[in-house]
Amino acid sequence: MSDDILSAAFYVPKGGIAKTTSAAHIGVSGYQNHGHETVLIDLAGTQNDLATQFGLQDDVADPDIPISIVFSDKWDLLRDNADDIVDRMVYETDEGVDLIPADDGLSAEDNNLANVPLEDRYDRLESFIAEEIAPRYDLVLFDLPGKEDNITINGLHAAENVIAPLKPGAFELAQLENLEDELATIANDDDHDADPTLQLVFATMVDRTTNLSSEFADQLEADYPEISGSPVAESANISDGQSAGRTLFAFEDDELYNTGKRARKAYRELTDELLSRLKEN
Ligand SMILES: Nc1ncnc2c1ncn2[C@@H]1O[C@H](COP(=O)(O)OP(=O)(O)O)[C@@H](O)[C@H]1O
Ligand SMILES: [Mg+2]
Repeated sequence: MSDDILSAAFYVPKGGIAKTTSAAHIGVSGYQNHGHETVLIDLAGTQNDLATQFGLQDDVADPDIPISIVFSDKWDLLRDNADDIVDRMVYETDEGVDLIPADDGLSAEDNNLANVPLEDRYDRLESFIAEEIAPRYDLVLFDLPGKEDNITINGLHAAENVIAPLKPGAFELAQLENLEDELATIANDDDHDADPTLQLVFATMVDRTTNLSSEFADQLEADYPEISGSPVAESANISDGQSAGRTLFAFEDDELYNTGKRARKAYRELTDELLSRLKEN
């Protein structure tokens, strides 16, 4: 990975645990609180959740150059012949971060990658980041699919730093152990030298009034003292904000419930922790 860009991927092989929400909030905080030029890359499929989070769902329906082409055999030709490739991929949000949205071609490219020789299968995204994104941005965050596929492994190779949000629940800690095993398997692949590592884990949608939530957050902290971060409160402000196309950082204080203010503070702290850890590496 190039030295001059910080990168991390949101990945847990599961949906509905605030991966997309967290990618958006941590990206915006990286820009607003740390002054990092930031790009969010949505590889999580065709729902285009990240675009929705920023009110861009209609704009991204037909991108000039879709991200899926980076994974295809057509990429080298395009890169060598087109100007301003990144400008043609990126959408600006109202909150300072840039977005490269998901597109309908991703699942076909996932299938096509299965026919690419193993030694070339997983480094396409990494090359794109090094060549096209690293010269322009300080921070890149990937929103990965909620399952391990060829696109996911490309994301883990490109980012190497993994962020895992977890929803309080009985089986979530066991899932985190499975995730560590999965990352270790990818790191031990002899064809590649990628070493994806968990850098940040935190509880999301935490309801302080329930024992389950509090015990879960405490257990996570006890089991992962080095990498556990601030728990994010459950707040209607998050889902209401998504419907309105904005993150908590686009609200005035008096527009937020206490839960929303706590969640926003947690995302700010998580961003501080993530960035200091990435800069140590
Ligand atoms: N802190 C939170 N409080 C309340 N709702 C949340 C919170 N975080 C996420 N959500 C909601 O939970 C749902 C799943 O979140 P999402 O980020 O899409 O998860 P994933 O990307 O892991 O599938 C969304 O409807 C989102 O609005
Ligand atoms: Mg998602």
